[in-house]
Amino acid sequence: MTPVASAQSPTPCAATAAAPCVEASRVVAHRQIAAGIFRIRLECPAIARQAVPGQFAMLRIDGRVDPLLARPLAVYDTFAAADDTIPRGLPAERRYADFVYAVHGRFTTALQEIPPGALLSLCGPLGNGFLDVPRVPHLLLVAGGIGQTALLSLGRERAAAGDRVTFCWGAGRSEALGDIDDFRHAGMDVHVATLDGSAGVRGTVIDLLESRFPSATGGEPEIPVNPLHVACCGPDRMMAAVGTWASARGLGCHVSLEAPMACGIGICFTCVARVRDAAGGWDYRRTCVEGPVFKATDIVWD
Ligand SMILES: Cc1cc2nc3c(=O)[nH]c(=O)nc-3n(C[C@H](O)[C@H](O)[C@H](O)COP(=O)(O)OP(=O)(O)OC[C@H]3O[C@@H](n4cnc5c(N)ncnc54)[C@H](O)[C@@H]3O)c2cc1C
Ligand code: FES
Repeated sequence: MTPVASAQSPTPCAATAAAPCVEASRVVAHRQIAAGIFRIRLECPAIARQAVPGQFAMLRIDGRVDPLLARPLAVYDTFAAADDTIPRGLPAERRYADFVYAVHGRFTTALQEIPPGALLSLCGPLGNGFLDVPRVPHLLLVAGGIGQTALLSLGRERAAAGDRVTFCWGAGRSEALGDIDDFRHAGMDVHVATLDGSAGVRGTVIDLLESRFPSATGGEPEIPVNPLHVACCGPDRMMAAVGTWASARGLGCHVSLEAPMACGIGICFTCVARVRDAAGGWDYRRTCVEGPVFKATDIVWD
């Protein structure tokens, strides 16, 4: 395990001050959990031990040059035992991290064939995570597509602390909702929307939010809830819409951007997003080191 040469500017989160590490990580389990969605468990003690909710790692398949560049995946969950037999809450050190990915392009197509025992190269944990999301009595998590991967550990942490956590997930069809019980077992109220109507509300996650929390449009809520803050991850258009929805209700909203990244450690500037500054303008910010989590109202979406 080698500390990465520090090319990072300071992040706003003190808990991420530990230098990210490069780890050769053994695959201990790998399975398909939904249509085109896989879950891989890696032995990566430095990353598993340090990761906070919303952080990610850059992954490469050992011995391959195609693709040449590592790809970012959110740290979905962490465990003390390879087979998850050590109950959470026991004072055992976390050694394993799970990543959940959608088969998309060259990296994820190659990754789905990687068997247990193979080695991956990981760099992480990276990014600021959700540490700036305030403690509130009721947190609303909103995911679109594969965006749930950034949200599980945040929801579990807040639910374990006694906060109410509602998780709303929008996907194309029910077959894409892999391991949704993780969110229920972590203590969250779970609601879904699918574009084809095969599970939950038919439509987008915004349709789901409107049906569950309709006070902004004057309706009666199906469940008597009043979320006080929103944390969101998914495609840009969806996050922009959730940010607008939250603003209309006077709710704070943090989003975790999924910008394409080449280095993950602040060197290459491929990952920039336009972020508003205090002077009323905007500047490019590197989402790998200054994000990926930002206030929704700070992002220039179009
Ligand atoms: C912080 C962070 C966390 C992420 N976590 C996850 C995760 O947990 N699970 C997961 O499945 N994915 C995640 N992603 C997205 C994932 O890194 C990309 O989809 C990645 O490009 C997949 O690599 P690939 O080689 O399979 O596809 P690529 O060959 O890189 O991409 C195929 C096509 O998709 C386009 N593309 C690539 N990335 C993006 C993007 N972000 N937005 C729009 N178009 C894109 C490319 O231009 C190309 O046309 C995350 C991204 C970030 C930044
Ligand atoms: S990915 Fe290289 S600077 Fe962010």
